[in-house]
Amino acid sequence: MEFQGRDIISLKDFSREEIDYILRIARTMESVAKNGSDLLAGKILATLFFEPSTRTRLSFESAMHRLGGSAIGFAEAEIASVKKGENLADTMRVVESYADIIVVRHPLEGAARLAAEFAGVPVINGGSGAEEHPTQALLDLYTIVKEKSRIDGLSIALVGDLRYGRTVHSLAYALSLFDVTLHFVSPEMLRMRREVLETITGKIEVVETNRLEDVIDGVDVLYMTRIQKERFPDAAEYAKVRGSYRIDLPLLESAREDMIVLHPLPRVDEIAFEVDKTIHARYFGQVWNGVVMRMALLGLLLGQIK
Ligand code: NCD
Repeated sequence: MEFQGRDIISLKDFSREEIDYILRIARTMESVAKNGSDLLAGKILATLFFEPSTRTRLSFESAMHRLGGSAIGFAEAEIASVKKGENLADTMRVVESYADIIVVRHPLEGAARLAAEFAGVPVINGGSGAEEHPTQALLDLYTIVKEKSRIDGLSIALVGDLRYGRTVHSLAYALSLFDVTLHFVSPEMLRMRREVLETITGKIEVVETNRLEDVIDGVDVLYMTRIQKERFPDAAEYAKVRGSYRIDLPLLESAREDMIVLHPLPRVDEIAFEVDKTIHARYFGQVWNGVVMRMALLGLLLGQIK
């Protein structure tokens, strides 16, 4: 299996074998993350974030530093030359001279794919509009394996904004390679994107509903998401669906004892704070898993892990 020099743009580009392999490598990074390493010494990561981010950017930077490499980049498009009208193609042609690998987050769908075409070094999609967020989905899968020791056979609910949420799109593509049952729980207006449904239909069992109460007692994993306010074309439309779902203690009473709650973060009001201290909460553990997963990805794409 060859990862050196590859881009990570969409999880549609990955096979089950490749994902299994990445998950195994991530596991080996746990101790490396704690002890530090010089595996990527001399290598430079550039993070180009044309859209706000806390976790994804810091997570990649932390992963790079833990492997002995260094990181450069910007987090506000306003302070970069993009403001002066530089196009993405030129930006990529310039940055490839500064860095060995580049993470791009951009508000436009398709931007990461375009960026990869113009850069001679590996490009990782750190979020492309409402389209995809592949590395978040990989760390979500890693969290599930770590907590449940498997993915096959599980029943998983993706809840909230399935239309504009990019993490759930990548996660659905990846999960369609496993033997799972997926429950898509959303308001009618925010149903899972048609193109995702079309891609995964026939591969796995999918059930769509707008009632969280109907699925909560039967699932192994509850993946909550934020309603993506900033992607709504109209504030009045957002007002209709805000606060659609909220996990709290009374709701959790009907959940299986070993059911885990995940969330890519940031949360708004979809998980009550009282849930944080229950046996179900795993969303802060996901953050650590994100560092470990990104270490694996950087090592693989830079050819230092085989
Ligand atoms: C997600 C994103 O940016 O899509 N955040 C993240 O990377 N962890 C989820 C979100 O913003 O709701």
